[in-house]
Amino acid sequence: MALERTLFIIKPDAVKRQLIGSILAHVEAQGFRVVEARLVQLKREEAQVFYAEHQGKPFFNDLVQYMTSGPVVLTCLEREGAVARLREVVGATDPAEAAPGTVRKLFGESKQMNSVHASDSPASSEREVKYFFGAVALVPEGRRSASITSG
Ligand code: CMP
Repeated sequence: MALERTLFIIKPDAVKRQLIGSILAHVEAQGFRVVEARLVQLKREEAQVFYAEHQGKPFFNDLVQYMTSGPVVLTCLEREGAVARLREVVGATDPAEAAPGTVRKLFGESKQMNSVHASDSPASSEREVKYFFGAVALVPEGRRSASITSG
């Protein structure tokens, strides 16, 4: 399985409840390495662009309001098959429907305040990691020189 990187966000509800350490411990225990991390207050426009695919949906304005309601932790995580594996570890969007032991089942409060975001596909992870951390952050270190020379 290829070494991959993906974007993982600890959302405002979880930061407010002091769950940063618990959530990172949970994903680290599943073999993910934290390769980038920043605590930031997202601006309205940043949240709107990040969630552009949801523009026009009934929950979009509330989502932007929630994601800018307090600090979030932006992280880039690395492991073999990171994108698909992190989706499994995170669980369904709605904590009520998430499988036992998943991050959202353990920590999420509601469909909106579901504590974390994980990129949903390799294409999303590429866009999302680049958006917050730049293109170089997307490429695992072992593949970096090869990727950069091949463009
Ligand atoms: P996330 O995985 O970050 O992607 C989009 C976010 O929108 C999702 O997690 C939830 O926080 C929120 N969301 C998705 N569907 C709904 C919904 N039906 N009602 C409210 N919020 C939602």
